[in-house]
Amino acid sequence: MASDFAVFLGQMIRRPTEVVAIAPSSATVARAMTKGLENTTGPIVEIGPGTGSFTKAILDRGVAPERLTLMEMNPVFCQTLREKFPGVTVLNRPAQEIAQIGLTNINTVISGVPVLARPQIQREVVGRALRVMAPGGEFVQITYSPNAPVSDQMQAELGISVEKRATVWANLPPARVFVFRRIQH
Ligand SMILES: C[S@@+](CC[C@H](N)C(=O)[O-])C[C@H]1O[C@@H](n2cnc3c(N)ncnc32)[C@H](O)[C@@H]1O
Repeated sequence: MASDFAVFLGQMIRRPTEVVAIAPSSATVARAMTKGLENTTGPIVEIGPGTGSFTKAILDRGVAPERLTLMEMNPVFCQTLREKFPGVTVLNRPAQEIAQIGLTNINTVISGVPVLARPQIQREVVGRALRVMAPGGEFVQITYSPNAPVSDQMQAELGISVEKRATVWANLPPARVFVFRRIQH
């Protein structure tokens, strides 16, 4: 089987606007992205899993495979994910369709989908997910930006709050982890 790096690089060359990274995320980022999942219940959805760096970390936290659904728009990555993670639901669908996959009360979304400087994706992916998630649900986003990848104006439009969880230097490039929550009224 080809290495994760080789599969990732091949797809980055073919579909650069979707992959938007030069290598899979490091195990250190994956631990920061999945912190606290061992204390959760209910469905978890990972969007943009690529070759599964975060998927492995989610399962390593003790999350049962049947609680986890992956939404990945690249069919080559989906094939890799099905081989590596038996028992996990792998959907070859865009994250924009999270409201149509039959899940209620989603506890956490782990996101590798690039959202920085993409207002339409922020509305269709972040906004839509937080509307269908359980109250208090957390949307965890990786970004390479030191600042929140969603502007203050967009946060107000979507009715969300943003908190920085971590800066991870041990990644290529260095990564940040932000948590988005829906403001409860
Ligand atoms: C930067 S890579 C991150 C991969 C992996 N999470 C990691 O950190 O190593 C972005 C991933 O998001 C996927 N992607 C991009 N847009 C998407 C969308 N709208 N819905 C689902 N997956 C998407 C790409 O195919 C790619 O696998």
